[in-house]
Amino acid sequence: MTRSKHVSTFIVTLGLAAGLAACAPAGTTGDGGDGEAAECNVGISMPTRSLERWINDGEGLREKLEAKDCDVDLQYAEDRTDQQISQIQNQIAGGAQILVVAAIDGETLGPVLEEAKAQDVQVIAYDRLINGTEAVDYYATFDNYKVGQLQGEYLVDQLGLENGDGPYNLEPFAGSPDDNNAEFFFAGAWDVLLPYVEEGQLVVPSGNSPASNDEWTSIGILGWQSADAQSEMDNRLQSFYTGGERVDVVLSPNDSLALGIQASLDGAGYTPGTDWPLITGQDADVANVRAILADRQSMTVWKDTRELGTQVETMIDALVAGDEVEVNDTETYDNGIKVVPTYILDPVVVTKDEVQPTLVDSGFVTAGDVGL
Ligand code: BGC
Repeated sequence: MTRSKHVSTFIVTLGLAAGLAACAPAGTTGDGGDGEAAECNVGISMPTRSLERWINDGEGLREKLEAKDCDVDLQYAEDRTDQQISQIQNQIAGGAQILVVAAIDGETLGPVLEEAKAQDVQVIAYDRLINGTEAVDYYATFDNYKVGQLQGEYLVDQLGLENGDGPYNLEPFAGSPDDNNAEFFFAGAWDVLLPYVEEGQLVVPSGNSPASNDEWTSIGILGWQSADAQSEMDNRLQSFYTGGERVDVVLSPNDSLALGIQASLDGAGYTPGTDWPLITGQDADVANVRAILADRQSMTVWKDTRELGTQVETMIDALVAGDEVEVNDTETYDNGIKVVPTYILDPVVVTKDEVQPTLVDSGFVTAGDVGL
């Protein structure tokens, strides 16, 4: 896996065949490019309501599309792949002409999306890549490798590793093994941190230290569950920190895992402001922003999901008009069958000092939500 270095904007020609069910505002005639006007009908398939970000993603995109009179069906699949597949089947049967899918399991949606393709439905992979199929037209996401890299670089800075400081006790975690993003997050972070593990400046008392990026699934938390991260951290602390050792730093790929890790530290008697370790995160969920303000989490990597929604809306507009779809990366996201043309957005580090100027001032969260 390589870091995306592509900043230029490519335009992918859609080659809309006559008869392609393009999407135009209901009751209007699209000016069409070479596409055909059709009733605008979008199926949005989100993985779960159990994480705040997906609620914001789904509702935000629905509002944007409904504001332009699109017909939108938004479904959440409670992290169950069979449910996601049947929801997508219903959306196809219900006349969806464009599908926006954040896959629960990046490997299993091929057959249902091939059914969609057979009916000329356009498929946009949302945030997570869909693997092993031709039937995905575009992908819109944040730079997933960079998310991990920002987490790793933050830890290097905070610990003074470049100055030779250490050794520090590190416990690394990775995301869900069925989520294509999780591999990128881990690779981004581990490319930065592994050299310090090899030098002995970072020590992993539990032994959960992948020798290479490829071994990341060995420390993955299936389904990104906070409770599972908590029990994994409990196990590590109870089994490997028995002689008075303390954990100094936890690589957590996202906010839901960070919450579970924090609960485990509470249980083990750690105290914020004294011996609490550095903990990374991702998403800027409200509970985690509160944790950052309370010194229970060191940082989060913020992905402004409103921007992602706007990018997907732009893709849909182009499909509706029969225009070309703008992407800025045509190399990074190979799904095993094809390289999926992608629009990549930039993630941003947020620490305590940046909560107000970034998250609050941009309206992503309110001061009241986070207790400011
Ligand atoms: C998303 C993250 C999210 C995680 C768990 C990933 O695919 O990119 O933002 O924290 O899934 O839902």
